[in-house]
Amino acid sequence: MSDETLSNLLREERRFPPPAELTAAANVTAAAYQEAADDGEAFWAAQAARLDWAEPWTRVRDWSRAPFARWFVGGRLNVAYNCLDRHVAAGHGDRVAFHWEGEPGDTRTLTYADLTDEVCRAANALLSLGVRASDRVAIYMPMIPETVVAMLACARIGAPHTVVFGGFSADALRGRILDCDARVVVTADGGYRKGAPSALKPAVDEALERCPDVRSVLVVRRTGQEVGWTEGRDVWWHDLVAGQPAEHEPEAFDSEHPLYIMYTSGTTARPKGILHTTGGYLTQVAWSHWAVFDVKPEQDVYWTAADIGWVTGHSYIVYGPLANGVTSVLYEGTPDSPHQGRWWEIVQKYGVTILYCAPTAIRTFMKWGDAIPGRYDLSSLRLLGSVGEPINPEAWMWYRRAIGGDRCPVVDTWWQTETGAQMISPLPGVSTCKPGSALRPLPGISAEVVDDTGRPVPNGSGGYLVLTEPWPAMLRTIWGDEQRYIDTYWSRFPGRYFAGDGAKKDEDGDIWLLGRVDDVMNVSGHRISTTEVESALVSHPRVAEAAVVGAADATTGQGIVAFVILRGDNEQPADTTSAEDLGRELRAHVAKEIGPIARPRQILVVAELPKTRSGKIMRRLLRDIAENRSLGDVTTLTDSSVMDAIRDRLPSGA
Ligand code: WT7
Repeated sequence: MSDETLSNLLREERRFPPPAELTAAANVTAAAYQEAADDGEAFWAAQAARLDWAEPWTRVRDWSRAPFARWFVGGRLNVAYNCLDRHVAAGHGDRVAFHWEGEPGDTRTLTYADLTDEVCRAANALLSLGVRASDRVAIYMPMIPETVVAMLACARIGAPHTVVFGGFSADALRGRILDCDARVVVTADGGYRKGAPSALKPAVDEALERCPDVRSVLVVRRTGQEVGWTEGRDVWWHDLVAGQPAEHEPEAFDSEHPLYIMYTSGTTARPKGILHTTGGYLTQVAWSHWAVFDVKPEQDVYWTAADIGWVTGHSYIVYGPLANGVTSVLYEGTPDSPHQGRWWEIVQKYGVTILYCAPTAIRTFMKWGDAIPGRYDLSSLRLLGSVGEPINPEAWMWYRRAIGGDRCPVVDTWWQTETGAQMISPLPGVSTCKPGSALRPLPGISAEVVDDTGRPVPNGSGGYLVLTEPWPAMLRTIWGDEQRYIDTYWSRFPGRYFAGDGAKKDEDGDIWLLGRVDDVMNVSGHRISTTEVESALVSHPRVAEAAVVGAADATTGQGIVAFVILRGDNEQPADTTSAEDLGRELRAHVAKEIGPIARPRQILVVAELPKTRSGKIMRRLLRDIAENRSLGDVTTLTDSSVMDAIRDRLPSGA
């Protein structure tokens, strides 16, 4: 973030106190907020009572083996039971769990009773495939109800799932399957995206060519596309699941039993398998969903417009809303299919009251203009949330005005795959919001902004965001790599969790998130590591070396800009056309290696890369170039004077 942007942010003086009606009926009041802030352990002990425990826990938390935490020690529970059966038992079986909307306009309504039956059948189906507690199951799916069913079926039988975003490539899928040694994959023929069926099964088939240990693939028919079929391995969902009994006795698992592994990008090329467990995770997602979104299960229609393949979907489409017995919307497709009013049509149709989405979507809608949401009745909305990247004040203001009709609070929620649940956020009935600030740590959470030496910075200064106490939904480790867990999160500031984000405390002590301080980019709210994209580029036969930076992008937050040095004598493509072809080829190559979300916005062929004497690429300088020059949308061939210009700007001695 440039200094200018930063000082603009800190000059932000608009204030939005909570609306009186919301405060009057808020789940969390100012008094409760104050009380909660005082004793973290007592606070979380009280929140654990939101869940049904088969065996009570004996200790709130065990930090004696820090940084390896245990929460609600000795307690036993079943996540699926807590998300489903208990609501049915309480007489809410007829309540809608999901209003599902397919992209082409087909719909399905699943009540809590329906979902419970489906999950029981799927759990029985997984058992029939030999899946047992602690076995890993990979899920590679479009946004359809079966995705939720598959996750909960896994949770029900204690088999940790790893959901791989459907936009990831066969290679990315394979890497994840192998890393966690999944033996069963749940997938679909395809899903609908941007107005057309988009296949998934071919990527599974390709991935499994080199995953010899996967013995079963359970395939949902969604699009009706032709699929390749491996006899003895592949089985249709409708053949196997439909015939199973809708009864399944849930087993209670230890509070620390693994619930899922979610892969996320770090500073190296290899994604990290973030491990989440059972009792603490469900406690914090349930509490935060209830508190931050002020949900009233009897009245609200809640919508997280994100993909289940990311942590936002895990915590705030699946586990949080279902633990709270809330009615949600689940939408399969893209915001502009078949038209740019699709989201607002959905809000109007289902009477959505709470909407949670990413700044990149908000900025896209802003670009499309006020007239589009203006055509729909959005008066059902009462609360708006934002997540995934810093939201700039103008986008925040637009969201509040054009979508929220100037009456809905906007909660900017900071958290990460690793934190499992929201950590820093306004509370809608308590906080006076500032456009662009996530404000304060939630009750039970301790965060600080520190300088290089780990000392808290005074108000009005910036530094690094750290979390100073363990929290219930925290990651427990990186799957299969305890040392990497310690090194990545707990070593930069010993005893404290380093989030990788820069932050500033304003004069009131409120927190403003400023983006990543490491080599991780944030593109449309998705984390992608520079090294991961560099490795993909260097795996192309024409590329000798690559340096990748995230450059500010008005819509996606950051866009990926790659500087590449070509192999061989003939280092430069002969002319502009071949440079464009090469750029296109390299962009497609990265999309194939990682997935379309990692496709660079621009590829710049260069003769040299700026490096320090120790050989480290000076990304800061490359970012300057990527951000200051209007390079346009097409691939550009830079001449060496571009790099000369960089060299001129290198600090002497570097
Ligand atoms: C990174 C985590 C949390 C679910 C989606 C992303 C950035 C996230 C905010 C926010 C500023 C934010 C941070 C963080 N981030 N929310 N409200 N304000 N930055 O999860 O892929 O694990 O990414 O997203 O940089 O470290 P993720």
